[in-house]
Amino acid sequence: MNIHIIGGGNLGTALAIGLANFTKENVISVSRRNINHIRHLEPLGIVLLTDNKAGIEDAELIILSVKPYQVDGVLDEIKPFCKDKVVASAVTGLSLEDLNQKLNGNCSIIRIMPNIAAQFGESATCLAYSAANEKSGEQVVELFNQLGTAVRIEEKLMDAATVLGACGTAYALRYIRASMQAGIEIGFDAATALTIASQTAKGAAKMALEENVHPEQLIDRVTTPQGCTIVGLNEMEHQGFSSALIRGIKTSLDKIK
Ligand SMILES: NC(=O)c1ccc[n+]([C@@H]2O[C@H](COP(=O)([O-])OP(=O)(O)OC[C@H]3O[C@@H](n4cnc5c(N)ncnc54)[C@H](OP(=O)(O)O)[C@@H]3O)[C@@H](O)[C@H]2O)c1
Repeated sequence: MNIHIIGGGNLGTALAIGLANFTKENVISVSRRNINHIRHLEPLGIVLLTDNKAGIEDAELIILSVKPYQVDGVLDEIKPFCKDKVVASAVTGLSLEDLNQKLNGNCSIIRIMPNIAAQFGESATCLAYSAANEKSGEQVVELFNQLGTAVRIEEKLMDAATVLGACGTAYALRYIRASMQAGIEIGFDAATALTIASQTAKGAAKMALEENVHPEQLIDRVTTPQGCTIVGLNEMEHQGFSSALIRGIKTSLDKIK
C-alpha cells in the first residue's frame, strides 16, 4: 500500500517509523512544512515532502496527524484530491461526521487513535468507522495490528480511547519516573534505576496482556503475607495511588469534552 502521513510531528513520525519497520511492502511518505526536523526518517526509505498534494497523489491511505487547530486548512487543501481514497484521522476530537462533511463525502473515513509507541510496534490503537466503510476499516485495523494492538470501538468512546490509550503513555511514563526516583533514593544510580523500573513495567504489562487475567491475580503471585510487597502496596493506596490515577484519567476526559 502507498501510505501518506500528513503532519510529521510527534505522532506522525512515530507512525512513519513504525510502518517502515514493522509492516512489509508499503511505500511510506510524510509531509510537513519544515522537513528539516525529520531528516532522520530518510535512511528508513521514508519519502519526505513539503507538499501535501504531491504526497496524496499516489496514496491509497492518507493518515492525518496534525493538531486539531491545523486540520481545517489541510482538509480544504486535500479535499479535491481524496476521491476514492481512505483517510484515517488521528486528530483528537474531530468526528467522522465532521470529517465526512469537510471532505465532501467522497472518500472512506476512519478515525484512529494510536499512541507514539507505534514507533516500536507497541501502540494500543483504537479505531472507529461506519458500516459503509467496513472493508477499508478492516484493512486499517489489520495495518495497525502490525504496530501493536488494534481494536474497533464505537465512535462515542473515541475521547475515552484518547485518554486511556494515547494520554496513557504519559501516565505510564510518570509511573516509571516515580519508580526511578525511588530507586535512586534506595541506592541505585539513575541509569540502573531507569532500566530496572522500565523493564519491570514492561514485564508486568506483558504478563497482563499474555495471561489475560485480572491484574490483582498477578499481584497475588508477588505478595507474601506480611511481606514487603503488600506493605508497600497498601501504603501507596493509603496515599491515594489508584484514586489519583482514576481521578487524573477522568480529569483528562473532562478536558477533552
Ligand atoms: N502525540 C501523541 O501522542 C498523539 C497520540 C494520539 C493522537 N494524537 C493526535 O495527533 C495529532 C498530531 O499530534 P502531534 O502530537 O504529533 O502534534 P505535532 O507534534 O504538533 O505534529 C503536528 C505536525 O503537523 C505539521 N503540520 C502543521 N500544519 C501542517 C500542514 N498544513 N501540512 C502538513 N503538515 C502540517 C507540523 O509540522 P510543520 O509545522 O513543520 O508543518 C507538525 O510537525 C493531533 O491531532 C493529536 O491530537 C497525538
